Amino acid sequence: MAQLTGKLALVTGASSGIGECIARALAAEGARVVLAARRRDKLERLGAELPGSETIELDVRDPQAVAHALRARPFDLAIPNAGLALGIDPVQKGSPADWSEMIDTNIKGVLHVLRAVTPGMIERKRGDIVLIGSVAGRQAYPGGNVYCATKAAVRSLYESLRYDLHDTGIRVSTVDPGMVRTPFSAVRFKGDGERASKVYAGVDYLLPEDIADIVRFVVTRPARVNIGEVVVWSKDQLSAVQVARRL
Ligand SMILES: NC(=O)c1ccc[n+]([C@@H]2O[C@H](COP(=O)([O-])OP(=O)(O)OC[C@H]3O[C@@H](n4cnc5c(N)ncnc54)[C@H](OP(=O)(O)O)[C@@H]3O)[C@@H](O)[C@H]2O)c1
Repeated sequence: MAQLTGKLALVTGASSGIGECIARALAAEGARVVLAARRRDKLERLGAELPGSETIELDVRDPQAVAHALRARPFDLAIPNAGLALGIDPVQKGSPADWSEMIDTNIKGVLHVLRAVTPGMIERKRGDIVLIGSVAGRQAYPGGNVYCATKAAVRSLYESLRYDLHDTGIRVSTVDPGMVRTPFSAVRFKGDGERASKVYAGVDYLLPEDIADIVRFVVTRPARVNIGEVVVWSKDQLSAVQVARRL
């Protein structure tokens, strides 16, 4: 039986990859899902497949736009998944514009969403928040500098949120994936598909559906259960830098 019937869920970054799959998984459990991201065409295509869903064209970097779009809605679940990596240069060659975009999206974007949805959840004395961190927040890798730092910030934010929201009825979790095959690497390499494919070459990588299934599991536990941190590796990935490849 569907376990999220009647619940309202927010998924940011629902236009692609992990967010799209989370939206599908929550909708399959009966939730009405608010799909948020910048690319309206992709959101609308997904929205047409998910009964009861709604699409919001939203840039999570804009605090006013986020507050305006989300504050008044009675969300039961919020998955602030929108995020990205840009470039893989060492700091001495890095692009400050890329750093700003990662920091503004991966850290401040998550904060903007949390600021908008948590007061209502506290008032209603219930809610589920699942952050999407990364193993990159636990182990740095060459050229990962700012992306790794943003995901370490997400992990720290998770720990802090547990204090902020303790005894409010809200459960907070973080799901931290290793290598998942999505457009993530194509975004990192700014559309260089060949370079992006090399990241996954010869690896039995995770699929975005795997992460969505774990998020679905986390939010469908009995009310007394709060799964805290879930670190998810593909069987082939030993660490942020050690991956078995069959080439
Ligand atoms: N793939 C991996 O290996 C991996 C591993 C660990 C963690 N993660 C994390 O998983 C999350 C999803 O990544 P993914 O792999 O699914 O990559 P993806 O397919 O590129 O999806 C990223 C999503 O974030 C949205 N987004 C980016 N900037 C945004 C902004 N300013 N405002 C609103 N939405 C924005 C994008 O939508 P628009 O472009 O339409 O706005 C897109 O829907 C990220 O937080 C990422 O750090 C990924």
